[in-house]
Amino acid sequence: ATVIVTIDGVAASGKSSVASGVARALHVPYVSSGLLYRAAARAALNAGLPLTDEAALTAHLRAHPLRLDARADGNRAYQGDTDLTPHLHTDEVDDAVSAVAALPGVRAWIDDHLRSLPAPFVAEGRDMGTNVFPHATAKFYLTASPRVRAQRRVNERDADIDAIETALRERDRRDARQSQPAPDAHLIDTGPLTLQGVIDLILQRVQA
Ligand code: CDP
Repeated sequence: ATVIVTIDGVAASGKSSVASGVARALHVPYVSSGLLYRAAARAALNAGLPLTDEAALTAHLRAHPLRLDARADGNRAYQGDTDLTPHLHTDEVDDAVSAVAALPGVRAWIDDHLRSLPAPFVAEGRDMGTNVFPHATAKFYLTASPRVRAQRRVNERDADIDAIETALRERDRRDARQSQPAPDAHLIDTGPLTLQGVIDLILQRVQA
């Protein structure tokens, strides 16, 4: 059977690290949908397009398509020949991405791109188990308290924990619409678990 595992969850819940670990254990690629949303936001900023101008942005994406390279050792996002990856995890993109991700035309474009990728793979994001791959083999939804998530971000990016927590809560609020767990998803509170602990829990369920 063609296996698709979906790992959704709130901002900074550890989705990418978990998805990467699960994918490596299963010897399949992982697909970071968030990286494509970040690339769409970066493309809008680079082109000087207003973040809410759906018509302009979808026209831009059709003319200059994004492409996700779903490599097992870390996804990369391209626009044409330009590798946008080094410019996607910045405060500027964090602040812009939810507005761009709220545009139905952008979501439809990204959904189509994700569905065109060859399975098997592990897909992570917000709506992988609900909208994009409703027939996935196994679905997971990761949570953790805002404080725990902010602490993890501080370890990745040098910044003030209170400011990060505030920004995460704000992004949760803006992303709430596309961040509901699928009814058949396994909920995992990652707060008390190590990264490897979360990966093992998922592998047990996938291989059961
Ligand atoms: O790593 P983090 O959870 O902070 O973010 P991400 O997974 O890289 O996603 C960045 C942004 O893309 C989110 O804040 C959402 O606005 C958007 N996104 C989405 O709308 N749907 C997805 N399936 C994945 C990401």
